[in-house]
Amino acid sequence: MIVVIDGPSGSGKSSTAREVAARSGFYFLDSGAFYRCFTFAHQRDGSDTDRFMEKLSGYRVGGRFENGEFRISLDGEDVTREIRDSRVTSGVSRIAEITAVRARVNELLREVAMSNDVIADGRDLGTAVFPDADLKFFMVADLETRTQRRIKQLEEMGLSGDPGEIRNNLEYRDRIDSGREADPLRQAEDAILIDTSELEFEQQVDLILAKIKEIKNRR
Ligand code: DC
Repeated sequence: MIVVIDGPSGSGKSSTAREVAARSGFYFLDSGAFYRCFTFAHQRDGSDTDRFMEKLSGYRVGGRFENGEFRISLDGEDVTREIRDSRVTSGVSRIAEITAVRARVNELLREVAMSNDVIADGRDLGTAVFPDADLKFFMVADLETRTQRRIKQLEEMGLSGDPGEIRNNLEYRDRIDSGREADPLRQAEDAILIDTSELEFEQQVDLILAKIKEIKNRR
């Protein structure tokens, strides 16, 4: 079974998906982490885009689930924490615009989904990566709510962030993610819209769990 949650940065997709996974036995698949991982590789190798493109198929990127956490590695090294760095966050939308990078990430995502019950979060999962997903959600929230959430998320990881900078970065990424030619951020026609600005975290988790149950009962 494949459940997808798409939406802009900071709308609550990944924390919701993570909790749903913990409660349903699904495998949580963080598609943004794959784009971040390739961005980290680009920066690690000197931010030389030509060289990066030449090496693209040679990078070994692996996602795995460990003690309830999604972890990602690059060439055998765990980079789960490094990919949350503000430098990666600032650069990721530009790397995610590259069609060949998107094709590589999609391949990796579909591989994982082939053998697991998966709940995945991203931007184009319902429209491009998993158009036949069993359930699709599109999660939105206003900019201020999203900024505060990002700050909290960073704090939980022992990192800090300037609110103005985070707000600008969210707006910037919204613009690039929605405006790019290759599979932009878009709500799939058959996706259920959830505005999390006014919802309690538990409510959005329960809503998705209820829909999953509904589908399972129908089978
Ligand atoms: O969810 P996130 O903030 O970790 O995502 C990082 C970036 O990756 C985001 O700015 C856009 C890109 N992305 C994408 O283009 N398509 C996806 N399915 C997931 C993420």
